[in-house]
Amino acid sequence: MSNNNPFDFQGRHVFVAGGSSGINFGIAQAFAESGARISLISRSADKVDAAVATLQATGADAFGQAADVRQPEAVAAALAAAAGRFGPIDVLVSGAAGNFLARVLDMSPNAFKTVVDIDLMGSFHVARLAHEHLRQPGACVIQISASQAFTPTPYQAHVCAAKAGVDMLTQVLAMEWGPQGIRVNSIVPGPIADTEGLKRLAPTADTLVQMAQRVPLRRLGKVSDIALMAQWLASDWGSFITGAIIPVDGGLSLSGPRDFSAAAEATARGAR
Ligand code: HXC
Ligand code: NAP
Repeated sequence: MSNNNPFDFQGRHVFVAGGSSGINFGIAQAFAESGARISLISRSADKVDAAVATLQATGADAFGQAADVRQPEAVAAALAAAAGRFGPIDVLVSGAAGNFLARVLDMSPNAFKTVVDIDLMGSFHVARLAHEHLRQPGACVIQISASQAFTPTPYQAHVCAAKAGVDMLTQVLAMEWGPQGIRVNSIVPGPIADTEGLKRLAPTADTLVQMAQRVPLRRLGKVSDIALMAQWLASDWGSFITGAIIPVDGGLSLSGPRDFSAAAEATARGAR
């Protein structure tokens, strides 16, 4: 990294789990624009190919593979191939996730388990299997969490449980890997406009307005708000930050549990 511009990631290897769309893809794009080489995984080969093509069209070095974070063998193979292509991983972004609105009594055991498997077990597999490929010292691990981790939220029991686990994993890994010069932090995005996650929680114009009105700064977030925090953490400016759970949410997490009953009813009606 250049001394003059801490956001110069020329030649650095950034691996993004769940990187084919939304916030995670925006993070990949931001690092690519700053000179990084990007490797990314998600389940859908079509989404991966489209994301890689978009990055390459801007001149970036990008490499994508279809892999499900619930399958440790697939994650291990993808990490090894990415490290073979671009070398040790400087920045690991772990953001694969799933969500839907449902009350506990409307969730089957498999419904609850599916989100825990993707968000929490997936983060465990990605971090644990990436360790041997991380640059030591110097690597930065960024987990993408959600305010459900610390705000008990009806209709979100699966995400609350999973993301709370993700943040605890962040803090334990920060302690276990700190002596090796590896930093581990969580970013907690607020409601980010034009993302799949927000569509699932605010599926109508009304619920979207209500969501923005609950944000103390009275706006939805932008993907770039999250990407800039990821770059800050990965830069020299973030070199003394580890084990932190960092909301980038316009203050939303201060405003308590949200009421998703109207959004859930709208989703059930198929309203938009
Ligand atoms: C009740 C549901 C359900 C719903 C699925 N299930 N949707 N239960 N209400 N609305 C149940 C199914 O019936 C099944 O249980 C189990 O969940 C698994 O469903 P599958 O469709 O087989 O799972 P899978 O194909 O693995 O898909 C995972 C998924 C899906 C999470 C269900 O929505 C997905 O792929 N999501 C990825 C994209 C996404 O969600 N992005 C948003 C991330 S945002 P049974 O018992 O029938 O087998 C986020 C939240 C952050 O993470 C907060 C934002 C502010
Ligand atoms: P998104 O576009 O759906 O991003 C999720 C990504 O994960 C997709 O690329 C998806 O691609 C991939 N993925 C899902 N399941 C996977 C699996 N089993 N294995 C590998 N990849 C998988 O949604 P988003 O809204 O941008 O969310 C991104 C992150 O931000 C998530 O961690 C979410 O919890 C967090 N977040 C979002 C918001 C928000 O407002 N959007 C708020 C707080 C936190 P495939 O379908 O190809 O697998």
